[in-house]
Amino acid sequence: MNAPLVLGIESSCDETGVGIVRGRELLASEVASSVDLHARFGGVVPEVASRAHLEAIAPALRRAVDKAGIDLADIDAVAVTAGPGLMGSLVVGLAAAKALSAALGKPLYGLNHLVGHVVVDVLEHGPLTTPCLALLVSGGHTNLLLVRDITGDITEIGTTIDDAAGEAYDKVARLLGLPYPGGPVIDAAASRGDPRAIAFPRGLTSRRDLERHRFDFSFSGLKTAVARWVETRLRDGLPVPVDDVAASFQEAVADVLTAKTVDAALHFGVPDVLLGGGVAANSRLRGLLEERCQAAGLVLRRPRPGLCTDNGAMIAVLGAEAVMAGRAPSDLSIGADSGMPVTTVIA
Ligand code: KG4
Ligand code: ZN
Repeated sequence: MNAPLVLGIESSCDETGVGIVRGRELLASEVASSVDLHARFGGVVPEVASRAHLEAIAPALRRAVDKAGIDLADIDAVAVTAGPGLMGSLVVGLAAAKALSAALGKPLYGLNHLVGHVVVDVLEHGPLTTPCLALLVSGGHTNLLLVRDITGDITEIGTTIDDAAGEAYDKVARLLGLPYPGGPVIDAAASRGDPRAIAFPRGLTSRRDLERHRFDFSFSGLKTAVARWVETRLRDGLPVPVDDVAASFQEAVADVLTAKTVDAALHFGVPDVLLGGGVAANSRLRGLLEERCQAAGLVLRRPRPGLCTDNGAMIAVLGAEAVMAGRAPSDLSIGADSGMPVTTVIA
């Protein structure tokens, strides 16, 4: 099919997203977030998120259809996040997608949220050049992926052995007394601070660690180092320079992520690098990766920040890629898979 009209639904965490694409052209992306409901708890409360999805999904669907100016009867396929994510949240989107698929008589594609983050850039910069090396950085995942075919051939070459990059941002924000989600606030604070103020550790970069974990990440030691540093200041009765701590922490995260990404691309001989996931909205990560890719002769693709965080358009466009590649749709009986591996693109 040339440029299929696909509706995508995303509800894996605290954003209810509905996106509509025609091939790789974005027609609408509506996102309703329940982040404000979770802020006072310092993290997403699953039960609260599920209820918010229930309330948001039908209005978001209506807004997206209106915005795109399409008739629901004209869509070619329904795409939906089948995993990974919060079980109670995933089932809301999946139920809505199955209902649409059954009522309209259109195929259902149950898709991997993480692969959606990786593919979303095609909405801005056109078809992927494969093979490419993807750095996926979100609230729950941090992976280096070798992508030969975005609809079915993805190899994980590295992952975090403890916290995800976004999780580290959220935890460090919390210990600095900053609100949830931590990424955007630390990004803003860091722009006012000195990234060289404090030398925080770079996880899994010692020669010994590189032997076993060359393409893996670790952020829990960094988080503990920030906590210790702040505790010591407080114990000594000194003020905590929040902006400098944020900038130094952010530098440590961006340094490791970018160094290992470039190393992996060169090691596997892949000239194209792709950035995706909520943390891909980070200004320093974007800047440093661009700098280091250029220096290494690699071509970097990164979606605009608004497409990096969770949305329905990334699921819709992954659905469109699946249709265009002639992939078989999912069975209507598929379930949500909270632990769906990144190597499974279509459920
Ligand atoms: O991909 P995403 O929207 O949801 C998941 O699939 O997890 O990622 C959310 C994560 C959160 O941890 C949030 O703090 C982080 O992305 N994030 C950022 C920025 N914007 C969002 N991290 C660093 N800098 C940002 N500007
Ligand atoms: Zn995500």
